[in-house]
Amino acid sequence: SDAPRPLIAGNWKMNGLRAALQEIETLRDAVRAGHVGSVDLAICPPATLIHAAVQACGGVLSIGGQDCHGAPCGAHTGDISAEMLADAGAGLVIVGHSERRTDHHESNPTVRAKTEAAWRAGLIAVLCVGELREEREEGRETEVVGGQLAGSVPDGATPDNLVVAYEPVWAIGTGLTPTCEDIAAIHLFIRGELVTRFGEAGQGIRILYGGSVKPGNARELMAVENVDGALVGGASLKATDFLAICACL
Ligand code: G3P
Repeated sequence: SDAPRPLIAGNWKMNGLRAALQEIETLRDAVRAGHVGSVDLAICPPATLIHAAVQACGGVLSIGGQDCHGAPCGAHTGDISAEMLADAGAGLVIVGHSERRTDHHESNPTVRAKTEAAWRAGLIAVLCVGELREEREEGRETEVVGGQLAGSVPDGATPDNLVVAYEPVWAIGTGLTPTCEDIAAIHLFIRGELVTRFGEAGQGIRILYGGSVKPGNARELMAVENVDGALVGGASLKATDFLAICACL
C-alpha cells in the first residue's frame, strides 16, 4: 500500500507568548506561496494561544493541543478537555508525551483514556511512546514501546484518528538521536504492532520520529523506512527552522 502523506508537527511545549503568533503567520504565508510540498503541517502551541493560532493559520495548517483530560467536563481544576480544544478550533492533540508521563505521572491507562477523549471530540490523537536511556542501554526498547502501545492505544485506531510518535526520551532536547538503523528497527516494530492489531488500517497510521530533529539531520531521519514525519520540539519555535525541516521531505 502507498506510504501515508507525511506530517510534520511542532510541539511548542511551555513556550510562546502572543508575539509568537507571527511564526504561525510565516508558516501560513509559506504554505500559501506554495513553498511547502506534499506534507501536512501542524503546530501545537500552549493552550492560551490555540484559538488565536487557529485564526492566524488561515486554515492551511492544523493547530493542536499538547494534552487533554480524559473526561469531557467536570471538577478538574487547571485541566482542559478535548471538547474545549476542538471548540477552540484544534484538530489534533498530543497525548502521552514523556514530559507528561514524567512530570504528571501519566500511566498507560491514563493516556488511553485521553486518546478516547480526543476521539470523542473528533480530534486526531498524536500518541507518544519511547524508552528511557537506561531501558535502551539494557536493550529493552521494543519491550517498553510494545508495552506502551498495548496499554495506551485504544481499540478502533485508524489513519484518520491516530498518529504514533516515537520519541526516545534520551533524544528529547539533548541533540542526541538514535542511528537511522535503530530508528528503522523500532519503527518497523511499531508498524508490525499496529498491523497485528488493526490490520490494513495499521499500514496507514502515521509513525512520526521525535527527538532533536533539526534542519541539519531531518533529511536522513525522514528518509528512514516507516518514518512518516516528525514531531519537532525546539526547532519548531522558529518558522524558518520548521520550514527547513519540512523541505527535507
Ligand atoms: O514532542 C517533541 C519533542 O519532545 C522533541 O523535542 O526539542 O528534542 O525536538 P526536541
